[in-house]
Parts: sequence; structure tokens; C-alpha cells
Amino acid sequence: MTGPRCHGIVKSKRTRMNPHIAHIATELKKKLQSLPEKRDILKAPELRELYAQLKVTSQDERPAFGQAINQLKQELETMVLGYESAAESAALTPIDITAPFDTNIKPADRPHLLPTELGSRHPLSIERQVVADIFTRMGYDVLDSRQIDDDYHMFGSLNFPEGHPARDDYDTFVTEEGLIAPAHTSTMQNRVLKAGEPPIRSVLIGRVFRNEDLDAKHEHTLNQIEGVYVDRNINVGHLLATLKTFLDAYYKADLKFRIQPAYFPFVEPGFEFAISCPFCNEKGCMTCKYEGWIELLGCGMIHPNVLREGGVDPVVYSGFAWGLGLDRLVMMKHSIEDIRNFQAGKLEFLRQFK
Ligand code: PHE
Repeated sequence: MTGPRCHGIVKSKRTRMNPHIAHIATELKKKLQSLPEKRDILKAPELRELYAQLKVTSQDERPAFGQAINQLKQELETMVLGYESAAESAALTPIDITAPFDTNIKPADRPHLLPTELGSRHPLSIERQVVADIFTRMGYDVLDSRQIDDDYHMFGSLNFPEGHPARDDYDTFVTEEGLIAPAHTSTMQNRVLKAGEPPIRSVLIGRVFRNEDLDAKHEHTLNQIEGVYVDRNINVGHLLATLKTFLDAYYKADLKFRIQPAYFPFVEPGFEFAISCPFCNEKGCMTCKYEGWIELLGCGMIHPNVLREGGVDPVVYSGFAWGLGLDRLVMMKHSIEDIRNFQAGKLEFLRQFK
């Protein structure tokens, strides 16, 4: 390897070099290449020797001689600097420009950054997986629901006629372009029905959005688990057995359940489904507000109009659907009192679920 090129010498100032100095210059540059400590060249005996000669040079030759020595010294100095900066940049670890911080800085020098090893999965992500695993074992496909949708999937395809007051039960967020932030995962029913021939067994999990007044029990953003099952000869018994099987597996208990009629335009008949409180066994506790029962979800047999709209013949097939709040399920499992904890990003809360 040759030494770094020597720039920075202003040509116009260059005087014709005295042959003696030119010879020493060549020698010194050669020597510089093999010197381990490059800066030592500036103290080379040859240079000192030249300065000594300067003193005994005649008056009229002295200025040119002196200038030539200085020029040589400057040249060597520039070469040394070149070597030094090359060595310095070779010693640096390359910067990873894709990292969010300079990886050359040691963790101790960046106490303001959170050590990544202390991160944990969000409780809703953990529980979403638990739910997905149970339904996968029961033979369902598990898919994500959409987070932006339209009027047709939110209402039209679900048997809400235009201008029907039931639309007002859902306080939906709507964009200026008329897009809808889905207020329930039932927006996915029509897509699932159109996607394939029965038997259809799908679970859709995802965020839904409601224009709610916020408090410990109400959030504007929550997560729902929608189930859709369609085949020949499906009845309410299948629906109830499915829900009980899932909830028993989730709470690891043998739960009792209770249904009462409820109205949703997209099911007929429709129900509200409650379970015996898994924590107090109907004796009454804080979680069930001393009622012994907990309202959990809406469900029912899919309305023939919804099946037809999804391309499924309601004379041949029947099916059921349910919509269950994931947040509620997890709050009960872990005795979480305030639903707003899920979105708040408070580390004291999140670190409990490591
Ligand atoms: N989508 C309904 C809700 O969120 C719940 C539901 C789903 C009811 C499926 C019946 C069938 O209010």
C-alpha cells in the first residue's frame, strides 16, 4: 500500500528544489512508509541535519535553501496527517444507518433509551393468540378483520335497510370520503360468506372503533372476535355448544351460560349470551357486580338476507355468528379494572404481563 496522496501544496509557491534536498526528500518519504509511528518522521536526523546546514549556508543562498527545507517539512507534515486520519477512520466500527440509534455508542452511554430486553408483548396480543389457538383447534380459520371499511359492509350487507334506526345504535366514525372505521367485526361476515363454499368456519379478530364517552368500561378503540359458521342443518344448539366449549377452554372452568333474546338486524333469532361468573361461581363478587352472571356477547342465527347477500342459499344452508369483546374477556381473566389501560401505554401496567 502506498501512503496517502499529498495534497495542499500550493504549486505557484514551489521553488526548484536544491538537488541535495530533493535527494533527502525522496529518502525521507521512503522511510515514512515503513515507520510505525508516522509522526516520528518530523524528528528525523536528516531534517535536523538540513537545518544545521542552513546555518552555514551563504547569505544569498540561505533564503532559497530555508524555503526548500520548510517546504519539505510541510509536505511531510501533510503526509503524516493523511496517515493519521486514515488510521482513525479504519478504527471506527461502521455505522448501521438502519438502527434507530448509533450502535457505536455503548448501552451505558445512552441511559435515556429503554433496554430492549425489558420489552414485553401487549396483554391483548398475548390473549389474541390464546383465543386464536383455541379456535384453530376447533377447526376454524382465524383471520384479521379490516380497520377501514364502507357503508355496505358496516350496514347494507348486514340487513340494515337505508335510514333504519338500528344504524344509530352504532356510533361510527366516518371520514369525509364516507369511509367507516368499523364499529364491529360483523363487517367481515359478507366477505367470509363470499370467499368460499360452505362449510364455512371463520373467526375474525381485530380492532373496532366507537364514538363513546370514555370511562373505565368504555373505550373508543377495542377488539372483537367475530365467529361465522355455515353448513347444512346448523341450529342454535351448535351455536351455544361452540361458545361454551370456547369459554370453558379459555377460562379453564365448567361454566354455566344463560341466553336472552336480543335484536341485531343480521341475525334471527338473536341473543345476548351470559356466563356464570368464572371467579365466584354465582355467589357474587366485584367482577360480576354481585350478580353471579356476566353478559359477554351478542350472537344468533345468520339472517337469511345476510346469507343471500353473501351468495349462500338460505334454503340449503344455515349458520350462526357471534361477536365477542376481546378486551372484556382479558379484563376478566386478569382482573383489570380500567379498559383504558390497554391503550394508555403505561409501562407499569404492561410490564405485569411479561
Ligand atoms: N356485531 C354485534 C355487536 O358488536 C355483535 C354480534 C355479532 C351479534 C354477531 C350477533 C351476531 O354489537
